[in-house]
Amino acid sequence: MANQDFLNEINKRRTFAIISHPDAGKTTITEKVLLHGQKLQKAGTVKGKKSGQHAKSDWMEMEKERGISVTTSVMQFPYRNDLVNLLDTPGHEDFSEDTYRTLTAVDSCLMVIDGAKGVEDRTIKLMEVTRLRDTPILTFMNKLDRDIRDPFELLDEVEDVLKIMCAPITWPIGSGKNFKGVYHLQRDETILYKTGQGHRIQELDVIAGIDNPELDKRIGSWADELREQIELVRGASNEFDLEMFLAGELTPVFFGTALGNFGVDHMLDGLVDWAPRPLARATDTGEAVESATPEFSGFVFKIQANMDPKHRDRVAFMRIVSGKYEKGMKMKHVRTGKDVRIADALTFLAGDRAHVEEAYPGDIIGLHNHGTIQIGDTFTAGSDFKFSGIPNFAPELFRRIRLKDPLKQKQLLKGLVQLSEEGAVQVFRPLISNDLIVGAVGVLQFDVVVHRLKSEYNVDAIYENIQVATARWVYSDDAKKLDEFRRKTEHNLALDGGDNLTYIAPTMANLSLTQERYPDVQFEHTREH
Ligand code: G4P
Repeated sequence: MANQDFLNEINKRRTFAIISHPDAGKTTITEKVLLHGQKLQKAGTVKGKKSGQHAKSDWMEMEKERGISVTTSVMQFPYRNDLVNLLDTPGHEDFSEDTYRTLTAVDSCLMVIDGAKGVEDRTIKLMEVTRLRDTPILTFMNKLDRDIRDPFELLDEVEDVLKIMCAPITWPIGSGKNFKGVYHLQRDETILYKTGQGHRIQELDVIAGIDNPELDKRIGSWADELREQIELVRGASNEFDLEMFLAGELTPVFFGTALGNFGVDHMLDGLVDWAPRPLARATDTGEAVESATPEFSGFVFKIQANMDPKHRDRVAFMRIVSGKYEKGMKMKHVRTGKDVRIADALTFLAGDRAHVEEAYPGDIIGLHNHGTIQIGDTFTAGSDFKFSGIPNFAPELFRRIRLKDPLKQKQLLKGLVQLSEEGAVQVFRPLISNDLIVGAVGVLQFDVVVHRLKSEYNVDAIYENIQVATARWVYSDDAKKLDEFRRKTEHNLALDGGDNLTYIAPTMANLSLTQERYPDVQFEHTREH
């Protein structure tokens, strides 16, 4: 029996990530969320895109102390009586497989949408990934301080394009210059918007009841318009349903402005009230591990090279699935079969660092890694199972990589295989040539690889374009059919960094033709570690 303190710690935790299209406001909402967690006295810049510098904040000191950029990876903060873990997903150009895999380590996601733009393509892609595990999604319609599209139209678009039902929790009153605030459908309250409050926790200006004459006094004719709209909303849109939310079928929608720090608290309330407590994770034995299981277990979903070039080590980010982490504890590294003592894991916990030498299901810890830990690795208290569901995704961009000095072929291959074990990129070796093909999900990964090959492996490499549209991992239950496939399509086959057979398709048309021709062969878009 797990003890009550342990269960309380688990029940307090919510672990989520933000998915959005670049510029929708992920960074800004992260700042405000931290402000609400009162982690930062004043919301600083989380990553300071323009100046390229981090804000001078508590985080800076932590970064210095730990010699690694933790700011953008994992943030824990208290909200009400709970503890929230926010896992950053790299945005912008550095979009990569890391982004995808981070989504396997959370229990819910916040989707941020720019209210003027609606659903954009990166959001569509990220939503596809959350579907693999039916992750519950909360939605924040952002930038209400600008003129946004008709809210009904925005909800329709989310429903049509993302195939998820919308249940508005708040409803906007005007937008842009006329943004008056939001009406909370569940609380029957209107919360009025004040400008210039972006950097502090606001004193809320709340009017109870939609028929309250005070509302007419304060917002004039907008009050009647609101009443009409709410009647429509109550008639035409879905009511919030917890079960459907937890099944990933329905998303509660909040309206607000991240920049104005307005509406973010409604979203956080929703997160804390409804988002799942640390969930079980599937294993290769067919049995899932529940978070309340007392024995420790966790899996690695991301490996990050140290930002500080003086430290060559890397940090492996582990999501704790069950049990409790304590400083100095022993764990079994299942893939290598070895017991390791973890004395100096990085913790990302809110509060005083002196007290944070333990971590619970839903938390993330960082393990120092000198090359022995790979993405997807499982750690346990001694059992031999492995967590499943931490996939590789078929890359979408491909380049041939060549050496400036041909004598360094061995180092190049070693470097590429290690970088692919980290999950930075994938490497493919065609069966019939000595080429090396690098595949990535985001274009920035190519530069990162060349840079790291130079600094860590002393190899000068350059890229050449190559005609590849996509890659698929291939399998078949029928050994004879697979053999025939292998002989006939040899010129398009390659082995990846883990020696798995991969079909490299020059065009999408070629892929569909080949799939038609070999119905007994499976072409997989993802591969489990
Ligand atoms: P991202 O991480 O998703 O890429 O978005 P980020 O938060 O950096 O926001 C992108 C831009 O949108 C930022 O402007 C930010 O200030 C702005 N923004 C975010 N939330 C709101 C909002 O609620 N209202 C308004 N009006 N703007 C918002 P920026 O990069 O400084 O560029 P600029 O627009 O100031 O030129």
